[in-house]
Amino acid sequence: MKKVSVIGAGNVGASTVQRLAEREVGDIVMLDIVPGLPQGKALDIMQAAPLMGYDSNIKGTNDYVDIEGSDIVIITAGIARKPGMTREDLLKINGKIIKEVCDNIRLYAPKSIIITVTNPLDIITYEVYHCTGFDKKRVFGMSGLLDSSRFAYFIAQEIGCSVKDIDAMVLGGHGDSMVPLPQYTTVSGIPISEFLSQETVDRIVRRTIDAGAEIVNLLKEGSAFYAPSAAIVSMVDAIINDSGRVLPASVYLEGEYGFHDICMGVPVKLGKNGIEKVIELKLKQEQLIALSKSEKSIRSGIEKLNLDIYKKAFLV
Ligand code: LAC
Repeated sequence: MKKVSVIGAGNVGASTVQRLAEREVGDIVMLDIVPGLPQGKALDIMQAAPLMGYDSNIKGTNDYVDIEGSDIVIITAGIARKPGMTREDLLKINGKIIKEVCDNIRLYAPKSIIITVTNPLDIITYEVYHCTGFDKKRVFGMSGLLDSSRFAYFIAQEIGCSVKDIDAMVLGGHGDSMVPLPQYTTVSGIPISEFLSQETVDRIVRRTIDAGAEIVNLLKEGSAFYAPSAAIVSMVDAIINDSGRVLPASVYLEGEYGFHDICMGVPVKLGKNGIEKVIELKLKQEQLIALSKSEKSIRSGIEKLNLDIYKKAFLV
């Protein structure tokens, strides 16, 4: 029986808990600092269990003691974007929240695998890696899988085919310089260039990069959560079933793709111990340039976090 804890009971956290409960993944904990919020949402999701037929157990809590012994911890805590904001605008507030979350995970769930979701995703993943001191295999961010799913959806819409036949890949930072890879994106193994003109592909790539903001602008309050929670749960499935799925994740890089000491989205193999392997693909010149742009913007965010005391703490 696995124990999965979700930190943050906002839209992303709560819809993740709902999907986890419906899949009967094991014991689920939903934690938030707002009194009553996780308890109320947990009760609501549990009261749907007789109708939907799941035997899950959800505990809503404000106390970190309850995440004790978790196998997987999903961090969704933090504020979401409002129209006009970039993901980087969230750094100051979310960076502070995450430090406290990390202190508690280190204390109560030191053996867990952590999936980060809070934005700005790559910078926060880097912060979690350093603030927990966990092995890099056990700390990674969910972003590229969401971006890839958006890319796949737009392609299927354009072609008028089933989403089930699309395999799409998006790398890089979860931001304006993310790097969708049309050359590794297929329809039942057939390159998308057989179906779509370059101009159409370029348009879909642009829409994919802006997809999060498109939703923020429509919602006015808050950002996407149905697709993000679906992507999180796909990663949880890969870990729990030890399936070795190949998908993009934001991971700590030590030389892969030529990058050092940074977290960024790359294809990985995911299994029961977390990241089993980073897969290095051959990229086009303009995609390498876009990755370098991602790197610069992630690094400038990292510098604002002031993580030196954490780095030193784990040197001993
Ligand atoms: C998005 C936010 C969650 O891409 O980053 O929708």
